[in-house]
Amino acid sequence: MSSLPRVFLTREIPEPALARLRSHVEVDLWPEETAPAYQELVAHMSSADGLFSMAGDPIDAAAIAAAPKLRVISQMAVGVDNIDLAAAGRRAIPVGHTPGVLTETTADLAFGLILAVARRIAEADRFVRQGLWRAWTPWTMVGKDVWGATLGIIGMGGIGQGMARRALGFGMTVLYSAPRAKPEVAGATQVALEELLARSDFVSLHAPLKPETRGLIDARALSLMKPGAVLVNTARGAEVDQAALYEALRSGRLGGAGLDVTALEPIDPGDPLLRLPNVVITPHIGSASEATRLKMAELAVDNLLDGLQGRRPRFCANAASLPGASS
Ligand code: DGY
Repeated sequence: MSSLPRVFLTREIPEPALARLRSHVEVDLWPEETAPAYQELVAHMSSADGLFSMAGDPIDAAAIAAAPKLRVISQMAVGVDNIDLAAAGRRAIPVGHTPGVLTETTADLAFGLILAVARRIAEADRFVRQGLWRAWTPWTMVGKDVWGATLGIIGMGGIGQGMARRALGFGMTVLYSAPRAKPEVAGATQVALEELLARSDFVSLHAPLKPETRGLIDARALSLMKPGAVLVNTARGAEVDQAALYEALRSGRLGGAGLDVTALEPIDPGDPLLRLPNVVITPHIGSASEATRLKMAELAVDNLLDGLQGRRPRFCANAASLPGASS
């Protein structure tokens, strides 16, 4: 029997990081591409010293309670809204995450969604593939300008700031709403959320999912947006009331949406949003570049090994709820 600590890894990770992990721990690798169902997760956690998780794995208080040996959770994501951080903290289990390394890559995707929706790129591609391109006309696939328009950024952490830099390069006016002013982001103006919604041609969500951001973009918020404006979400699906968004798009009140995250992931193939031509939906790929996914995996391995060796992970998401933290 191995004397190495046992780690449940809920999805395969890039090979160099997996090889390094295997050299330190006994890896219990979930063999499927799909996530383990809750009962499977709990069963595998019950014998694990460490958990290497992915965004969306439902790590609630009951799952943590059913894992008596668990000493660290390391998530290969910056967002940890799927983990009960307080329950982990009560057991003195640190939760590692991967901020920083995915910032620019995620901002690239969010800005790409703005361009894709505004310039109808996905729709135009479908049009060509369907053999519908018969002539150049002044009205074929006419969209909206991105350059010179106003971008409203909700949440001004690293990814929001990356969006501001990109938008300023496109000659956009940049507004943001955030709990704290970010004077270091030259050229971006902090405004109240209502003002941001009313003035922006494009609204992009970059706030973490917390009780105060759950359902933030509801029917009322959507009604405050400029007619024809575009909503982009690369944060978490639960920040948007998806039924209200569908209605705002269907009625023509909003001009389009670019969604990398949805309320249910994967989205139900029958979801009415998928029938709207002015919506671009990608499968939660904000951080999906080869280089960034490797950095995330390596950092998650570092965090995991830190925890197993009795140190606080270098990037710890629940430091405030660990014993000894000042409240
Ligand atoms: C994150 O890092 O939180 C992403 O959403 C998952 O890659």
